[in-house]
Amino acid sequence: MSGDTLSFAEAVRARHAVRAFLPDPLPAAQIRGVLEDARMAPSNCNTQPWQIHIVSGRQRDLLSKELLRAEAAGEVSGDFTFDQNEYFGPYAQRSGHQAKTRNDALGIARSDREARRVADRRNFAFFGAPHVAMLFAPAFGDGVRVGGDIGIYAQTFLLSLAARGLGGIPQTVLGLYADTVRDVLDVPDDLKLFFGISFGHEDHASPDNSYRLDRVPPQENVITHDTPGLFDNHPSPNPA
Ligand SMILES: Cc1cc2nc3c(=O)[nH]c(=O)nc-3n(C[C@H](O)[C@H](O)[C@H](O)COP(=O)(O)O)c2cc1C
Repeated sequence: MSGDTLSFAEAVRARHAVRAFLPDPLPAAQIRGVLEDARMAPSNCNTQPWQIHIVSGRQRDLLSKELLRAEAAGEVSGDFTFDQNEYFGPYAQRSGHQAKTRNDALGIARSDREARRVADRRNFAFFGAPHVAMLFAPAFGDGVRVGGDIGIYAQTFLLSLAARGLGGIPQTVLGLYADTVRDVLDVPDDLKLFFGISFGHEDHASPDNSYRLDRVPPQENVITHDTPGLFDNHPSPNPA
């Protein structure tokens, strides 16, 4: 801890997806501090393609209402595809584990589709957060480079929140209703919506914040090339 923020090592481990927030708005200076941190994120050719909409108060309530309506009406309008059925092998297994961990914490049976839908619709109430950041950018080419830039920006934003003892959650599902979000926020069509981040004070008493997801150790997805001693179980094939 230095000053009133966590160290990098502490912040990166304190960060987790927060799915229940207290309603109290954050002081503007605190949000500004997060944005000052996030703007230092690197981007392709330093293009800094992000355009961030911070939505609070009555506009937040209106956006939530419109998103809940659009979801109920099936008005999907994502700028990019998202199909969880494309996950296979270990990716499908991890995704399934994530869903089961959450459902178990909430006491929802796998067969209870209605309860799962209610829990998933909390996304559109921003999990009770007083603020949501909508992350827009122009999509150059197929959009994948900008997607990388936005991801790096988002992680910097999330780590800044964590370092300050605040919570956030990136939400792809908000991006699936891009036209609705653009309409409410008066954003032109050429700015694409990558995802949103709901943020605020974590509700530590909620069962939706009671679990943590682990990660596989680096030995499982790092392949060493002539880097001796990095992992004992992956000796580098060094023919010298
Ligand atoms: C780009 C991105 C989009 C995500 N979208 C959603 C979402 O729409 N809804 C949700 O509940 N969680 C969403 N998550 C949260 C992930 O499920 C979560 O980060 C992951 O399961 C790992 O858990 P942890 O963040 O608590 O470590 C998203 C995460 C990322 C990085």
